[in-house]
Amino acid sequence: MLSKVLLVSSPGKVILHGEHAVVHGKVALAVALNLRTFLRLQPQSNGKVSLNLPNIGVTQAWDVARLQLLDTSFMEQGDFPAPGPGNPPDFRKLGQTQSLNLVPGPRLSLGTSPSVLVRESHFAPACCRALPSLDITVWSELPPGAGLGSSAAYSVCLAAALLTACEDIPNPLEDSVHTSRWSEEDLQLINKWAFQGERVIHGNPSGVDNAVSTWGGALRYQQGKISSLDRTPALQILLTNTKVPRSTKALVAGVRNRLIKFPDIVEPLLTSVDAISAECEHVLGEMASAPAPEQYLVLEELIDMNQHHLNALGVGHASLDQLCRVTAAHGLHSKLTGAGGGGCGITLLRPDLEQDKVEATKQALAACGFDCWETSIGAPGVSMHSATSLEGHVRQGLGIL
Ligand code: PMV
Repeated sequence: MLSKVLLVSSPGKVILHGEHAVVHGKVALAVALNLRTFLRLQPQSNGKVSLNLPNIGVTQAWDVARLQLLDTSFMEQGDFPAPGPGNPPDFRKLGQTQSLNLVPGPRLSLGTSPSVLVRESHFAPACCRALPSLDITVWSELPPGAGLGSSAAYSVCLAAALLTACEDIPNPLEDSVHTSRWSEEDLQLINKWAFQGERVIHGNPSGVDNAVSTWGGALRYQQGKISSLDRTPALQILLTNTKVPRSTKALVAGVRNRLIKFPDIVEPLLTSVDAISAECEHVLGEMASAPAPEQYLVLEELIDMNQHHLNALGVGHASLDQLCRVTAAHGLHSKLTGAGGGGCGITLLRPDLEQDKVEATKQALAACGFDCWETSIGAPGVSMHSATSLEGHVRQGLGIL
C-alpha cells in the first residue's frame, strides 16, 4: 500500500468554438485551460479518511472501518448501482449512509470564492476495493459555477489519486522527475471513474469536461463522440469572468426557439459555426507543425465571426459586448465561451504582444468589475507532481502561506 504523499493536478476547460451549435449536432472544440485543481493525498495511520476543501472551508472525516465500499460493476453497466446488499440505497444520497462519497453534491463547489456556501456535505465513491487511511486536500484555481469544468477537474484528480493510492494504476512519477503523466490505458480508467463522479454531480453530463481534464490539449466533440486533436499548440489567452450569472438551460432553450421560429436564418448560422470549428481545427494542426504569425490572424478572425454568430443566436449579453469592446480597444479579439448570457469570455494573446499591453487590458477589464486571468489553453491533462515542484501551491492549498 502507498507510503508517500501524492500530488495530482488537472485542468479546467473552455469551449473554443461550437457552443450551442453542438446541441444541434455540430462540432465543438473544447480545450484544456491551465487553471488547475490540485489534490494532495497523504497516507495516514489513524484509521480515518479525511477530506479538506480549504477554498470553501469544508473538512470531513470518516472511520475507514465503517465505510461501505461500492460494487464497481455499475461501471460496466453504465448505470448507477441498484439498491441492494452491498450497494448504497441511493448513490446520490450517500452522505446519509456509511458509504464513502468524496464527490461533492450538486451544490458544493470547489472554487476559490469564499462566498460559496456548502449546503450539502456528502462526498464520494472510492475507486478502490479497500481504502487505506488517508488525508486528502483539494484546492482549485478555477472559479466555481462558471462553465469551466471545475467539478470535472475535481473528479479527475480524485480518481487519479485514489486509483494510484490503491495501486490500481502505477505512480507514474520517477525519482528526479518533477511531473509525469499516466499511460493511455491508465488515463482511460481515470476518465471512466471521473465520469461517474460527474454523473453524481450533474446527472447526465456529456463527458467532455472530464475527458478534457484527463487528456488535456484539445478535444473535438460531436453527437456524443469525443476525440483528441493530434497536435495542439499551447495558446496564451485572457480568461475573463463577467460574473453575470446565467442559466445554460434557458440559453439553450432560447436558441432552440429561435431555430424553430427562423429555421432558414438560424440553421445557416449553426452551419457557419460548424465551419468555423473545422477551420480552427485545421489552423491549430498547422500551428503545431509549422507555426507562422499569420495563423494568429486567422484565429482572431474566427473568434470575431463566431462572436457575431453567437450574438445573432441570442446568447450575447451587455457584459460580453463590453468585454469585446474593451479588448478591441487594445487590439485584441474576444468571444464568449460556454453558454453565454454573461459568464466567461476568452481573448487570444498573440505571442508578439508586449506584456505592458496585456497588463493594460487586464486592468481595463478589472475596472469593469470582471475577474481576469492570464493563462493558456491546450494545457496538459491530469498529472502527478513531485512535492518540491509545486511547493508554493501545496503551501497555499494547505493554508500555510
Ligand atoms: O455551461 P457551459 O459553459 O459548460 O457550456 C454550455 C455549452 C452549450 O453548448 C451551450 C450547452 C451544451 O450542453 O453543450
